Amino acid sequence: MANQEDQFKKVVSHAKEYGYVFQSSEIYDGLSAVYDYAQNGVELKKNIRDYWWKAMVQMHENIVGLDAAIFMHPTTWKASGHVDAFNDPLIDNKDSKKRYRADVLIEDYVGKLDAKIEKEVEKAAKRFGASFDKEQFLATNARVVEYKNQGNAILKRMGQSLEKEDLADVKALIEELEIGCPLSGSKNWTDVKQFNLMFGTKLGASADTAMDLYLRPETAQGIFVNFLNVQKTGRMKIPFGIAQTGKAFRNEIVARQFIFRMREFEQMEMQFFVRPGTQKEWYEQWKETRLKWHLSLGMGADNYRFHDHEKLAHYADAAADIEFKFPFGFKELEGIHSRTDFDLSSHEKYSGKKLNYFDPEINEHYIPYVVETSIGLDRMFLAVFSHALQDEELENGTTRTVLKLPAVLAPVKAAILPLVKKDGLPEVARKIVEDLKWDFNVAYDEKDAVGRRYRRQDANGTPFCITVDHETLTDDAVTIRYRDTMDQKRVKIADLKAIIKEEVDVKNWLMKM
Ligand code: GAP
Repeated sequence: MANQEDQFKKVVSHAKEYGYVFQSSEIYDGLSAVYDYAQNGVELKKNIRDYWWKAMVQMHENIVGLDAAIFMHPTTWKASGHVDAFNDPLIDNKDSKKRYRADVLIEDYVGKLDAKIEKEVEKAAKRFGASFDKEQFLATNARVVEYKNQGNAILKRMGQSLEKEDLADVKALIEELEIGCPLSGSKNWTDVKQFNLMFGTKLGASADTAMDLYLRPETAQGIFVNFLNVQKTGRMKIPFGIAQTGKAFRNEIVARQFIFRMREFEQMEMQFFVRPGTQKEWYEQWKETRLKWHLSLGMGADNYRFHDHEKLAHYADAAADIEFKFPFGFKELEGIHSRTDFDLSSHEKYSGKKLNYFDPEINEHYIPYVVETSIGLDRMFLAVFSHALQDEELENGTTRTVLKLPAVLAPVKAAILPLVKKDGLPEVARKIVEDLKWDFNVAYDEKDAVGRRYRRQDANGTPFCITVDHETLTDDAVTIRYRDTMDQKRVKIADLKAIIKEEVDVKNWLMKM
């Protein structure tokens, strides 16, 4: 656990030191759970967004984009259920005066059981060596099965209690499991209460005529209210999807863990409209497609798992999370939700406008069902960044800090380094920068010894360093150094563009899906 905490602290400080993420309004001591993306962070974030957009919109003939406003008519949130049901169950510790989400306390308890399972797996893998069969071990080892059953039973009971709004039982569960306040250890808890997560604001100048608005807590509703506009103007035929990226706001109570849980964050959502009765198939298909998208980035299949929801949101008939192994354990990265016709039916009811679709293939009008994929951009950023950050032992006994970002996402693709600041080398390096910058985000760096510059670029996540030396002046070649392997190759300047493109091209990465 201490190790995980140390690793996480490293992630946070590296993100600051290398211009990825800053605390918002830091000169005023910051604003809790609000962050700013700095010069490198904004590039990484943009690249993740583009990678998602290309996979979801550009590669699908039947998915189009949208950019709806953050402000929406307030009835939207009545219709969507957010005014009445977008709550978190909160519990206070009477001694430490700290407030927690009751479900998170219970999930963390189950997370500890999962960690015990992982420990058993590690021990057994060591004991059995090459003959170790993980699947079989997980299915048959008595201790592991006991932990798993225990965890499942706890989550099931919590899900059922939350579903029934039986908050007394949620508290009883916390007490039975003897869960203490993570800060003080105290088990002196208040009752569990519901708390609405939407931020309110006002539209209009005068107090009596101003309209109460909410900052949108999800981007999805902007898609639902535009469903017919897009379907008609785009002449879309079911099944089809509408995708959107944009800010969402939630007054999160437990806002720890850096950019994992923020009050202002960005979502990348896609609502896929399908014929009623086919939603189960599409739900399974989107689960698979989205997992493949994650795997295409090469961050290791073992770092992902599905978690099927016991407690379903008010709109869903099935839901699963894709969880990622963050430095603090497996946690939700993306949700795939079968939302039925809840949203469109509800907007039809509240607006009085028909939102149905005529299906020429079956000659019927109906309100489409929806399968949604919803991923937090900031959370994806944290997954990519924390996975990439490594301290690597080198053969010569030293260590290097390297940010092994997937090259397709790296903010700066190549750094061009003149070996020395004289003899015409900077001029050649500058010329290479001028040439490459039309295709890639590149940097020029001439300060310090070249070894130090390599280390700086490693820590920055730059996949290639291109060094211009004296020989370059006669052979028109440079040394290209690969961040991950530290291999160096002599290549012609004229070939640089093709070499870099091969490694950073979105197509080559998405083709792995
Ligand atoms: N439209 C469905 C929806 O909003 P959600 O599970 O509440 O579903 C979807 O959110 C995704 O948005 C989550 O999987 C997570 O990646 C991201 N997300 C949610 N709340 C967040 C927060 N407070 N900070 C950062 N990301 C968040």
